[in-house]
Amino acid sequence: MQIATHKTAPIDGQKPGTSGLRKKTRVFMEPHYLENFVQSIFDGIGGVAGRTLVLGGDGRYFNDRAAQVILRMAAANGAARVIVGQGGILSTPAASHIIRTRGTDGGIILSASHNPGGPDEDFGVKFNTPNGGPAPEEVTERIFAATKQIAAYRILETHDIDLGTLGETRLAEMVVEVIDPVADYAALMERLFDFDAIRTLFRSGFTLRFDAMHAVTGPYATRILEEMLGAPEGSVVNAVPSPDFGGGHPDPNPVWASDLMDLMMGADAPDFGAASDGDGDRNMIVGRGAYVTPSDSLAVLAALAHLAPGYAGGLKGVARSMPTSAAVDRVAEARGIPCYETPTGWKFFGSLLDAGRATLCGEESAGTGSDHVREKDGLWAVLLWLNILAATGKSVQQILTEHWARYGRNYYSRHDYEAVDAGQAARMLDALRARLDDLPGQSFAGLKVEGADEFAYTDPVDGATSTGQGLRIRFEGGSRIVLRLSGTGTVGATLRVYLERYEADPAAQAEDPQAALSQVIAAAEAIAGIRAHTGREAPDVRT
Ligand code: G6P
Ligand code: ZN
Repeated sequence: MQIATHKTAPIDGQKPGTSGLRKKTRVFMEPHYLENFVQSIFDGIGGVAGRTLVLGGDGRYFNDRAAQVILRMAAANGAARVIVGQGGILSTPAASHIIRTRGTDGGIILSASHNPGGPDEDFGVKFNTPNGGPAPEEVTERIFAATKQIAAYRILETHDIDLGTLGETRLAEMVVEVIDPVADYAALMERLFDFDAIRTLFRSGFTLRFDAMHAVTGPYATRILEEMLGAPEGSVVNAVPSPDFGGGHPDPNPVWASDLMDLMMGADAPDFGAASDGDGDRNMIVGRGAYVTPSDSLAVLAALAHLAPGYAGGLKGVARSMPTSAAVDRVAEARGIPCYETPTGWKFFGSLLDAGRATLCGEESAGTGSDHVREKDGLWAVLLWLNILAATGKSVQQILTEHWARYGRNYYSRHDYEAVDAGQAARMLDALRARLDDLPGQSFAGLKVEGADEFAYTDPVDGATSTGQGLRIRFEGGSRIVLRLSGTGTVGATLRVYLERYEADPAAQAEDPQAALSQVIAAAEAIAGIRAHTGREAPDVRT
């Protein structure tokens, strides 16, 4: 085994986005592309000599090859140990857990999350810091700076290592420890939730469908829901991870998880439906005939988390990303606990969780989580819901209806315009930005603007600031529009338009959200001129 030092040159565009570096798989497979970025991670964090890292991914196409390359590079860069999930597999929350509990120096997660996988689809690499969370901007900027200066990378020249067998092996001086990807995570869930109560629920005939979408949560959900909690065999579907996610789009929303939605809205619906994404950090929750928006799910979980043993002591605070609806704010207000509003991206919750200011966090993009790890966690959200259903004996629909009656309902929808020309999208937002100060007092589609600004954030713990985080327009009466460009797309620009309206009257809380929001939707078009700027007649996705 020999350490080779390969000369290389900076490659343009290796700038980590909302969640690591995400590109087409073929781009990652180009000569030196992966190697340059991995060496830049190592250089950006001050080297890995003598350090311990965690490594795993969601099993998508190229996961196995990339894992071998990263192990050889870690060995060549002097790492002491890499803890890797069997077969190179670790869900994002499980990786976060291992990074934390094993006291490591961070970890590398191979995933493009909910984006499709395969040779012509997406791949991604992200670095998580020793607290288990996504690298904050200060770290990703150092990594990006390293990509612009790189002149060489180091790699061990050797054969592939067996990642199928549990236990320790060596790669030159470095220990490679292959672990069961599920075991530690399952034990953590067992500590947080009342598994006995959930078992009793299943024994009483409660039915569930969990759609793993051919992605990483298959093995986790099968072990926990079926084997440990006694959900009937076959409750977990699409449970075997496949490199191209069965040709699908592993994004748990009503559009991409339409099979599950159809089932839950039909006559044979089980009591509870849920799905997770490629790397296991997102979740979708559906009751019989009742889709729960991620924003509502966060609010319900905040209101009822104390029913689970891990949260019996109450919550220190809650946090949500700015475009997420204000439903959780109302729960926080009622409880007298702080509610933080952060930019989009789970990494912004890290300092609040570390400082003990927030216990629960969530985003409209189907992410919910708590201080048990430093990532959002799909199965955790499913288990907390199950714990609540077991403790209350109520249905999802009942829980929602009662929640709205008590706190009011924040009707909410996100409209996405995908693969829009990046220049057109930027010009549209520039034009709107220039008019923000003139909007207050004007009316659009019958709604009067109360305030408009561009969201900027100063982290209350470490003082870090982030600007340019989305344009927001507030109307009298509590309605709101937010516009921003996605930071996770790989083709052109994705324009996201977030729409929200508050309804306090229980008699008016059962409308279809698109209908309930029609005035807000019309106001968004009138203010921003989306059709004229993008040439699109309608959004590609409505969540
Ligand atoms: C990833 C991040 C989330 C974020 C989401 C949407 O899943 O982990 O924290 O909310 O992307 O980001 P986008 O920039 O595409 O709206
Ligand atoms: Zn994900």
